[in-house]
Amino acid sequence: MFPIHRPRRLRKTETIRRMLRETSLFPDNFIYPLFVTFGKGIKKEISSMPGCFQESVDEVVKNAKEVYSLGIPSVLLFGIPEHKDETGSSAYDEHGVVQDAVRAIKGAIPELYVITDVCMCEYTSHGHCGLVKDGEVQNDPTLELLSKEAVSHARAGVDMVAPSDMMDGRVEAIRFALDEEGFSEVPIMSYAAKYASAFYGPFREAAESAPQFGDRRSYQMDPANRREALKEAALDIEEGADIIMIKPALAYLDIISDVKDAFDVPVAAYNVSGEYSLVKAAGKLGWIDEKRIMMEILTSIKRAGADLILTYFAKEAAKILRK
Ligand code: PBG
Repeated sequence: MFPIHRPRRLRKTETIRRMLRETSLFPDNFIYPLFVTFGKGIKKEISSMPGCFQESVDEVVKNAKEVYSLGIPSVLLFGIPEHKDETGSSAYDEHGVVQDAVRAIKGAIPELYVITDVCMCEYTSHGHCGLVKDGEVQNDPTLELLSKEAVSHARAGVDMVAPSDMMDGRVEAIRFALDEEGFSEVPIMSYAAKYASAFYGPFREAAESAPQFGDRRSYQMDPANRREALKEAALDIEEGADIIMIKPALAYLDIISDVKDAFDVPVAAYNVSGEYSLVKAAGKLGWIDEKRIMMEILTSIKRAGADLILTYFAKEAAKILRK
């Protein structure tokens, strides 16, 4: 004991700290979300998410080029369609915004790894993640729509699909549909443990996907539950998920750590819109050191066990990491 043991010896200089650092971030760990809208020449900043935009396909391609040039290997696409209806038919339209964006991005930057969010909420007039009947979100009929959506993304040339709807059995349904259509090599990253979180608030403005009635608590997980996340992850892996995602990230570091310990698949964590907006807002007020907080948050998500981090901070963090 003291005075023999002095842990401060190993913290004396930046060089020794650097040598013993247990967790390092790399731009390779990041996936940058992009919001694709219809039209041309459109780049509209999302007010609650400074630095993030709704962009038409031509603008999204420019943004994707910048992302790739910063050393970030991957983007995640969300769509804001021109038409919304009860069944979210734009979600599986061959010429939907996401399908067009996938073709355009893969055409311009073939090496950039393009992932698509597979969900109905951006495409349905009621804003729920599935088909609605008598005020209830229907599980099994939704699986068919999600499968069609995933296949349409695959036909457009997507590298990986990421279902975020939280319907039961959707990984298996999407896996079968992809295999049947000849896309057995397209992996699935499932939002396995996705919580009914208030941290998604700004995203719903960004993707224009707020539910028009009720909330998502009958399909997304209760924030109070920890063991249930392991059950969700186990089911998704059994159904064929290649990567398991936890979402949100920062308030759920225990879940990331549990899932990492329990399974041998890669783990992704989604540092969601509300986590980003909080930092941006406090930074703007001068109440925090925004850049340091950003790096600390991203490091903590990786330290908890995330192999991949989906984050709106990807570009800013990559610029710091490249220095
Ligand atoms: C769609 C979806 C959501 C997010 C990703 N996919 C919103 C939701 O479930 O309401 C949230 C992303 C974020 O907040 O950054 N189902």
